[in-house]
Amino acid sequence: MRFLITAGPTREPLDPVRYLSNRSSGKMGCALASAALEAGHEVVLVSGPVALEPPPGAQITRVETARQMFEAVRDQISGCEAAIFCAAVADYRPVSVAGQKIKKTGERLVLELERTEDILGSARSIFGFRGFLAGFAAETTNLLEHAHDKLRRKGCDLVIANDVSRAGIGFDSAENEVILCLPGAREIPLPRQTKAGLARAIIAFITETHPPQTPPSPQ
Ligand code: PMT
Repeated sequence: MRFLITAGPTREPLDPVRYLSNRSSGKMGCALASAALEAGHEVVLVSGPVALEPPPGAQITRVETARQMFEAVRDQISGCEAAIFCAAVADYRPVSVAGQKIKKTGERLVLELERTEDILGSARSIFGFRGFLAGFAAETTNLLEHAHDKLRRKGCDLVIANDVSRAGIGFDSAENEVILCLPGAREIPLPRQTKAGLARAIIAFITETHPPQTPPSPQ
């Protein structure tokens, strides 16, 4: 199978030297890419700015912003049979980007933000993707409720629920623990382990339960 995997954070510029971002290291997304390659699949990796080297053998597209990630996914998803959206994409970006470094003036500075592109939410509705679609849900409250809601609203086959309120798992950690949320309110917990181990289990689950049935969507 050919997998499209997104990884890492996005950076939304405020001025030439500052940006809004988050603590995603890209470890989980790179682990998924490595696990898919190890299992003999092809991988298209769309990655935000991370310090990690991408796994050898992946076709890599590096992006910075949510808009660039949206465009890279839009351009490459049609040739893939499965997509896993692991990136921590900014939900909002500054409405305007200052041309020069913002100077310290008053005691407060108010930023106006606007919504970014919903890349996962566009996979079915805008990109016309018909392959296996997996998203993540990184939540600090009501984990499973939000995960099942995302599964339904975004037309996913799988949402990987990730409790990011707990120390030692989630963002920028070596280990993770997730629950696979599936249609029909089914749930499969995957116990705490290295991100590499978890990634192997997720790729095995996808390939064993959903062997490719549909040809890639038309270019
Ligand atoms: O990178 P690491 O340090 O290893 O950390 C791994 C991780 C915690 C980032 C990863 O396991 C994880 O949970 N990724 C999802 C992060 C996230 O931002 O989740 P979310 O619940 O905000 O978004 C839901 C889904 O929509 C995700 O699949 C996300 O990629 C996607 N999304 C979100 C916003 C947006 N504008 N477009 C999107 O496609």
